[in-house]
Amino acid sequence: MIKAMRYLKPFWLSVIAIIALVFVQVQFDLALPDYMSRIVTYGIQYGGITSPQPEMISSETVSHMKYFMSESEINDFENTYQPVSASDPSYPSEADGSEVWMKKEGSEAASAAVEKAFMIASVLSTNPSGEMDPAQLWASLEANPAMAQNIMAMADEQLEGYTEDNLKALKIMMVRNEYNLIGINTEKLQNDFILHEGLIMLGIALCASLAAMASSFLAARTATGACRNMRDDIFTRVESFSSEEFSKFSTASLITRTTNDVQQVQQIITMMLRIVLFAPMMGFTSLFKVLRYKSLAAVLGWAVVLMIVLMIITYTVTIPKFRIVQQMVDRLNLVTREQLEGMLVIRAFNNQKTEEERFDKANSDLTKLNIYLNRVMAVISPVMTFIMSAVSILIIWIGANQVDIGAMQIGDMMAFLQYATHVLISFMIVAMIFIMIPRSSVSAKRIFEVLETEPSIHDPKNPKTLPAGAQTITFDHVSFRYPKAEMNVLEDISFTAKPGETVAFIGSTGSGKSTLINLLPRFFDVTEGAVRYGGVDIREFTQNDLRSVIGYVPQKGVLFSGTVESNLKYADENASEETLRRALEVSQAAEFVDRMEHGIEEPISQGGTNVSGGQKQRLSIARALSKDARVYIFDDTFSALDYQTDAKLREALNRMIRETKATVFIVAQRISTIMHADRIIVLDQGRIAGQGKHEELMKTCEVYQEIAYSQLSQEELGV
Ligand SMILES: Nc1ncnc2c1ncn2[C@@H]1O[C@H](COP(=O)(O)OP(=O)(O)OP(=O)(O)O)[C@@H](O)[C@H]1O
Ligand SMILES: [Mg+2]
Repeated sequence: MIKAMRYLKPFWLSVIAIIALVFVQVQFDLALPDYMSRIVTYGIQYGGITSPQPEMISSETVSHMKYFMSESEINDFENTYQPVSASDPSYPSEADGSEVWMKKEGSEAASAAVEKAFMIASVLSTNPSGEMDPAQLWASLEANPAMAQNIMAMADEQLEGYTEDNLKALKIMMVRNEYNLIGINTEKLQNDFILHEGLIMLGIALCASLAAMASSFLAARTATGACRNMRDDIFTRVESFSSEEFSKFSTASLITRTTNDVQQVQQIITMMLRIVLFAPMMGFTSLFKVLRYKSLAAVLGWAVVLMIVLMIITYTVTIPKFRIVQQMVDRLNLVTREQLEGMLVIRAFNNQKTEEERFDKANSDLTKLNIYLNRVMAVISPVMTFIMSAVSILIIWIGANQVDIGAMQIGDMMAFLQYATHVLISFMIVAMIFIMIPRSSVSAKRIFEVLETEPSIHDPKNPKTLPAGAQTITFDHVSFRYPKAEMNVLEDISFTAKPGETVAFIGSTGSGKSTLINLLPRFFDVTEGAVRYGGVDIREFTQNDLRSVIGYVPQKGVLFSGTVESNLKYADENASEETLRRALEVSQAAEFVDRMEHGIEEPISQGGTNVSGGQKQRLSIARALSKDARVYIFDDTFSALDYQTDAKLREALNRMIRETKATVFIVAQRISTIMHADRIIVLDQGRIAGQGKHEELMKTCEVYQEIAYSQLSQEELGV
């Protein structure tokens, strides 16, 4: 999984941008509960008044306050507040015209003594106990200022049991009273406050959403980009694989790895970029904020522990299954591929039923496992929701008690609830990702198995340049064994082919003809001995250089979807029209291509299914001939042709070769095809049973004689 991260390297700028955006989003998201708390506490509870110190005090109250302040405290008060008359521009428009004291602009908060004097003066004015008429009280205070000391002592006594929050609430209530006294519309004050905070919240929420969208967008782009590169790399790597690696992975698995597995990795990268950063940032910042409220944090702590335990259980139950899922997808792919490719054979042998069962089994195995996994997930999610709800209820219950005893504000409790939800959700997300990571790392591992498989056939470090012109090709005591096979398929093969020569191979099925000629384009490397081109071991050239001089026609004709022309140009994209024409004529394909509706532009369907077997074979030959090669290899390509076409083709080919001096290797089953070759090599169980011209072999080689007689008599009988 870590290795997959290196695919993010080209996108480092995006990754940084995503981190920044996620950070911004978290900050914004987490600011919201605080604002909500302010709206509830100050906006709703305190009527929009945030400070226990009034902005303005009526002169009447000020005159009362002075009874409860010492000289120096009065001084301090006058430093902070100043009298403002109705004519002053800063005079509050709603006031009744009498003088008020307003806080000086930019002044610091008044001292606690001032605050206290204000509170006592206000409380006494409202006459809370109803025992004494306030006017009377003020009059007696005026007469006997020393009384103030008594009153203050009484107030201290009264307020002893008050918590800080309660005291603040009381003070703010007095401020509100005072404002009403002055004539200020406190309701408007409250509405303005709520509106103001609400708008800020809205703005913050908007910014958070924008950041979330931007980071999602970038994350998706980065992940898809990284995975495109990954698929590219897999494909390039697979292209360089030799048959050995193909058989190691199986085509179906290679396809799953390039598609499904990469998809899994892409998913996790997107999640990682977005959520893995988001959740812990959110979780930890919330946790930090929550720690302010110790009494509730414990509840949350237990909930988190419970969730972690639950996650560990899920983890152990599901992870091993996820590993199996990917293998099953492989299996399903394999079965599907095999059946689609072999559809005709399946129908011919009426095996649809068995095949259906085979597919059903692969399919239902996968389905069963997926259902199981989904069930586990389905159980997990309500349990999680239950835990979350339970925690909410607990928080509200405990919080309500706290509010009751005055240790907490309602707004704070609500904020806590939100932070707690953030913490829990973050933990849940992180846990989910921990479930997904192993699943994707199974996929990542499968991808890197492919990427890290070194092809068994590779280019030399210091390749030699390929000699120009026609060259002699030598097989020098070549032996070959397929990887993992027990026996050599080819044993001590030696022969030389000069430029312009035609070398033919004949032998029974499985005698190693295809294997032998596949050594030349290095589809496999020899086990012992060497194949030389112009005297140089072919392993000293790059595969690209070497193959550029070889025109190869495989035993099984393969065409690609496109047109006749695009298939021919597959050999050499710069081939001129003339060359293509000649290739078609030599390969005897011209006659049927000309008869096609669109001629050379005739579309060819995938796998060349819209042409006959023989036509496909001839187009394959034409493709090889479209290339100006030094060596042409025909692996049993003429047996699909009728005798007449076979003969015409060979004749045309010979003419062409005489001009180009190319070397031709022909594998054939029919003696007539190769009778006139310059050299015939008879293979028998991987060994050379004889080599020479037809006439020589007829005299000396028993194996050749056997083949020749069987065919001649057959021809005589058959024709
Ligand atoms: N990829 C492979 N892995 C292992 N063994 C292989 C592989 N391909 C071929 N063989 C074995 O090598 C032997 C020679 O196969 P080869 O294809 O060269 O025969 P051939 O002479 O071309 O036969 P035919 O005339 O049927 O095309 C066979 O016994 C076959 O079982
Ligand atoms: Mg063969």
